Amino acid sequence: MYNQPMLRDGALEGKVIVVTGGGTGLGKSMSKYFLELGAKVVITSRKMQVLEETAHELETTTGGKVLPIACDVRDYGAIEAMKDKTIAEFGGVHGLLNNAAGNFISPTERLSHRAIDTVVDIVLKGTYYTTLAFGKHWIEQQQKATVLSIVTTYAWTGSAFVVPSAMAKSGVLAMTRSLAVEWAKYGIRFNAIAPGPFPTKGAWDRLFPIDAFPEHLRDRFSAHGNVPLKRVGEHQELANLAAYLMSDFSSYVNGEVVTIDGGEWINGAGEFNHLNIIPNEMWDFIQAAIKQNTKTKKEE
Ligand code: HXC
Ligand code: NAP
Repeated sequence: MYNQPMLRDGALEGKVIVVTGGGTGLGKSMSKYFLELGAKVVITSRKMQVLEETAHELETTTGGKVLPIACDVRDYGAIEAMKDKTIAEFGGVHGLLNNAAGNFISPTERLSHRAIDTVVDIVLKGTYYTTLAFGKHWIEQQQKATVLSIVTTYAWTGSAFVVPSAMAKSGVLAMTRSLAVEWAKYGIRFNAIAPGPFPTKGAWDRLFPIDAFPEHLRDRFSAHGNVPLKRVGEHQELANLAAYLMSDFSSYVNGEVVTIDGGEWINGAGEFNHLNIIPNEMWDFIQAAIKQNTKTKKEE
């Protein structure tokens, strides 16, 4: 594993970046790296106390400037107020990281329609509301900008047991690819990142709560069991990619979704990938049997 910071010092100097869900987990880790690279960062989510603690911690560790603003991404008025406060404090805004999300694991037939609304509203509506509010501002101001959205690999594969999240993330990916074309004329780039498993309290409490399970169920909820590299991701690995896609180094990358999952999703897709469990000695036997079989068929 190699998880050193990637970009040169000052790579995000002069940029103001808004990170939704920036108070915790991956949003916090990406915000930290943006600050280390010289950006000013606005972190937003519902819980002001969490945001204030994170802002204090990040300012202390990086020496950068962080503005915490409470904002529920399901509330368009609150997003407009957050945007206005950002501009009043920092004079402008150049990047938006759509990272806020809600999720839980459940058989779909056990969900109420309100439970589905809750996840879809945070992930899909929250993302298009925030993108629309900032997009209108950038277009009016003739200001170039970058929008990066965190999706998942099941945005295109779909996934059982997280259906509201899968529906919403695939909508976010469709938005990314659509606006990458439509708003390119305004100088606004759109990209997405699809992470595999990166341990965070938010995701693990809701998706892999193995501590609450009996021993025999724990393996079934293993976060990295399907990852060919046999490990979870490091936050710095994701932060490196996010910083690159936010920076001007990626100026010609537009409409892309970059997967960072150790090969997890493709492992589930390949017809014969499950044969990975067959040991080498057994391949000797299998190949000899196949050769014998085809030889016999030729002779008949
Ligand atoms: C079934 C549930 C549920 C659960 C809540 N509900 N949790 N149903 N299983 N585990 C139902 C409730 O009963 C209610 O429906 C409705 O959902 C709304 O619940 P509230 O608790 O009122 O919602 P709210 O307070 O807005 O909380 C939102 C939340 C919560 C999504 C439920 O978990 C949250 O705040 N999450 C934010 C952080 C998060 O989820 N992070 C993980 C992202 S990880 P009724 O019918 O009773 O009214 C991720 C990674 C994916 O996306 C990829 C990993 C590899
Ligand atoms: P997390 O720490 O739970 O992050 C989710 C954030 O969203 C929280 O800060 C939460 O803060 C915020 N949020 C939730 N509802 C909100 C709302 N209505 N308005 C504003 N903010 C809201 O989980 P994470 O693992 O870091 O996830 C970050 C992103 O990565 C998500 O998009 C997730 O889908 C994606 N992802 C994660 C993984 C993984 O393995 N961790 C894998 C694939 C994709 P509040 O509760 O304070 O609002």
